[in-house]
Amino acid sequence: MNNSLLVYFSYNGNTKMIADYILNKINCDVLELKPKIKYSDDYQSVVDEYQNNETAKSTTKLEDYKIDIDKYEKVIIGSPVWWYTITPVIRTFLKDNDLSGKTIITFATNAGWLGRTFKEIKELCPNSTIKNEMNIVFTTNHKEHKLKTEYKEIDEWIEKIK
Ligand SMILES: Cc1cc2nc3c(=O)[nH]c(=O)nc-3n(C[C@H](O)[C@H](O)[C@H](O)COP(=O)(O)O)c2cc1C
Repeated sequence: MNNSLLVYFSYNGNTKMIADYILNKINCDVLELKPKIKYSDDYQSVVDEYQNNETAKSTTKLEDYKIDIDKYEKVIIGSPVWWYTITPVIRTFLKDNDLSGKTIITFATNAGWLGRTFKEIKELCPNSTIKNEMNIVFTTNHKEHKLKTEYKEIDEWIEKIK
């Protein structure tokens, strides 16, 4: 059995791109989280909806998943940054699951404004060992899916978390 799990959410593909990259290099199980009600395909309307601070801090219902989180010692968590913090999907996952005693490794994809993303993860998982936070920056044009962070930096991080 694998003792590492990669959990991520991706609305527009960037976080999925990094998750797939990690999965090519690390042997771990994977859980892609999805909201029960799919977000609009209209990118700008999602940006506008979550600009409201209270909405940005909200939780959401998730599609059911069958993975038993308790089995894993190490959990790698990947989230896009939405309005300077984690997305409602990742927030819901962290509130629904007790990750006490586990090692949590986090990465966030964003366009350069990380905000309090890693801080919120720490607040939601006070009894976990959180380490190797990785900020992965893409260009601001969301249609490009183009990294600003160098692959060399990502590779070095992956070596550390193996
Ligand atoms: C609703 C929304 C809010 C966002 N807020 C931020 C932000 O606060 N800071 C930032 O750097 N990028 C922000 N972005 C850009 C995304 O974090 C970035 O494109 C990320 O890589 C998207 O990941 P994904 O393609 O896996 O969904 C936002 C994007 C969306 C859709």
